Amino acid sequence: MSAAILSGWSREFDRGYDVVMNTQNNNINVTFIQPDGRTETHQGPIGDHVMDVAVDNGVAGIIGQCGGGCTCCTCHVWIDPNWQDRVRPAHNDETELLSYAIGVCDRSRLACQLRLTQELDGLVVEIPSETE
Ligand code: FES
Repeated sequence: MSAAILSGWSREFDRGYDVVMNTQNNNINVTFIQPDGRTETHQGPIGDHVMDVAVDNGVAGIIGQCGGGCTCCTCHVWIDPNWQDRVRPAHNDETELLSYAIGVCDRSRLACQLRLTQELDGLVVEIPSETE
């Protein structure tokens, strides 16, 4: 879009446009490891959540039933040990809900509570086995 067209827009709209453009140019890579060892890497824009990336790309084992409302546990993942110190700690509601998940460990997180940031580009998460 040319600058001539943008020049007639309000300052607020221009800022909004900049945010949209930056989001589109800042996709974050997330690698999902299935219980059988298969891996797949997908991208999502900064501001989305790991659960969104999984659901948008049909990653098996992540359902996201509550749509990110932190009420269902169907987005349970294990953070790869190499990434644990780069992920923000879970808040109290997430920690409480995780206590009901199958296969909980100290690397457990809800993918819907993991917001994509530049620092998380290349994040690796494991999908817990349903039997663990
Ligand atoms: S999608 Fe329901 S808790 Fe994450």
